[in-house]
Amino acid sequence: MALCSFLCKIGLCFLLQSAVNAVGSVGRSRVAQRCYCDLEVPDGLFPVQQLNELHRLCVNCTRTLAGQEFDKAVDIVVSLEQRLTDLQQRINEFEEEYEGGLYSIISFRIIEIEITELHDLFQELQEKYTSNQNDLSGQIVQIVNITDRVDELQKYDRQNVVQEQRENARLRRSLSSCNDELLRTVAPPTTPHPGSCSFGALRGVSEPRSSILSHYGTSYFYGGWGNDPLPAAGKENQYWLAIMLKSNYYGNVIRIYPSFGTFLSKTSHTDVTIPGTHIQGTGGIMYENCFYFNCYNSPKLCKFNMTAKTVLSDDLPFAGHNNKFPYCRPSSCLLYTDIDLATDENGLWALYATESNFGNTVISLVNTSDLSLIKSWNTTLYKKSATNAFMVCGVMYATRFFSDEMEEIFYMFDTTTEVELNNLSIRFRKVSSGIQHINYNPRDQKLYVYSDAFLVTHDIIFG
Ligand SMILES: *[C@@H]1O[C@H](CO)[C@@H](O)[C@H](O)[C@H]1NC(C)=O
Ligand SMILES: *[C@@H]1O[C@H](CO)[C@@H](O)[C@H](O)[C@H]1NC(C)=O
Ligand SMILES: *[C@@H]1O[C@H](CO)[C@@H](O)[C@H](O)[C@H]1NC(C)=O
Ligand SMILES: *[C@@H]1O[C@H](CO)[C@@H](O)[C@H](O)[C@H]1NC(C)=O
Ligand SMILES: *[C@@H]1O[C@H](CO)[C@@H](O)[C@H](O)[C@H]1NC(C)=O
Ligand SMILES: *[C@@H]1O[C@H](CO)[C@@H](O)[C@H](O)[C@H]1NC(C)=O
Repeated sequence: MALCSFLCKIGLCFLLQSAVNAVGSVGRSRVAQRCYCDLEVPDGLFPVQQLNELHRLCVNCTRTLAGQEFDKAVDIVVSLEQRLTDLQQRINEFEEEYEGGLYSIISFRIIEIEITELHDLFQELQEKYTSNQNDLSGQIVQIVNITDRVDELQKYDRQNVVQEQRENARLRRSLSSCNDELLRTVAPPTTPHPGSCSFGALRGVSEPRSSILSHYGTSYFYGGWGNDPLPAAGKENQYWLAIMLKSNYYGNVIRIYPSFGTFLSKTSHTDVTIPGTHIQGTGGIMYENCFYFNCYNSPKLCKFNMTAKTVLSDDLPFAGHNNKFPYCRPSSCLLYTDIDLATDENGLWALYATESNFGNTVISLVNTSDLSLIKSWNTTLYKKSATNAFMVCGVMYATRFFSDEMEEIFYMFDTTTEVELNNLSIRFRKVSSGIQHINYNPRDQKLYVYSDAFLVTHDIIFG
């Protein structure tokens, strides 16, 4: 009897029907003893098979759902949110400009472009939504069916099979996330990737931030502009603009604006004329209150001291000049862009090509005191295959023409590790199809771009 009630308690009840004939009973049979167990017999056996089948269905269903374009729709929504925020900010900026009388047709044009693109995105999302809706209706019937059947199964679930299974799944999940956590904490320190600074590697280039039309007007297609990364005291907010004449052949005036406000409003400027020589091409830049450029009609570097008004020059050994190795687009080359100056966290660089390096780009770190070269690197980037190049954290990035609207960073050379990659695909929007000047300013981490007489900045996205 004791055994029987114990079995009852643990739920393994079955009828013990034993007529026990006394062992070795001789001649005399005892009355058969019976064990009664008061059972609540379940309505049926737990339908494990049905459960397994449902599980299979569920997995299948999840797979079908995941395989559909829901992820894409989610991506679009995320990108829409981001772009709406950006647009909001851009409109705010535009309003400020407008109120401050700094009305800029380009800011307005960019807003227009963005609204058109947002409209296209909305349309794409709507199409996705409609097609998903159709696919979904079938799935929903199936899911409802599965849900109903699981509910039914739960009624059978006297032994908490389903619940236990769920609890197990939960435990398994938390175990695996615990494991992940463990792995994460013991992960060895990663070695820095090529091109990474203390603030990360270049991951992207933002939409155009500020952009105005050059004050010289659209007829001056060649030029450069920027803000000194290592300014003299009191000149931190100065902006410079230098345009070239005769298809980039020469220029000799540097226009200085005392602040960004005067730059935008074109209210006040000083023109400084370089004595004795001209600037050739659009590669010149301001650094330490000196303007560095390719001296007119020669393979030389020039340094114009804005304070002393003196020019220092020195040879750039074997550099191609006068359209030997300019930057090019597929259709045409950018005349006289053989020697390009660049700034970054490490100082001043010259980017050019030599015959001994087969027209491929050479990177040289320049000593700003005497224009000697501190160190040079031969790359395998054919200079004429790039539309421009700039330095960030000791890494040269080269761009190429992708479309009238987009330019693409496709190549990098890291002077620290000497690793070069030519499979980058970092695209950024242009305001106009041609680009004549790009330089990175390590002080504000922006790219300064001259694009068919439009003066544009972009933020660099590090990660
Ligand atoms: C899983 O889905 C595929 C295609 O959607 C279907 O052919 C297959 O029969 C399904 N399997 C089960 C167990 O329902
Ligand atoms: C639910 O699924 C079962 C098994 O596949 C099927 O027999 C039943 O007709 C389905 N019910 C509905 C409402 O689709
Ligand atoms: C520019 O000239 C001034 C005056 O001679 C001098 O003090 C300054 O150091 C020069 N700047 C550079 C970067 O050579
Ligand atoms: C740069 O040139 C100056 C003058 O010739 C020299 O004193 C200095 O050491 C050079 N700097 C480097 C880093 O080579
Ligand atoms: C670059 O290549 C040229 C030609 O082969 C060679 O003379 C020069 O030393 C090389 N420069 C470097 C820094 O490797
Ligand atoms: C580019 O090439 C490098 C080296 O060949 C490779 O490690 C990297 O994964 C490639 N990147 C892309 C985006 O293909």
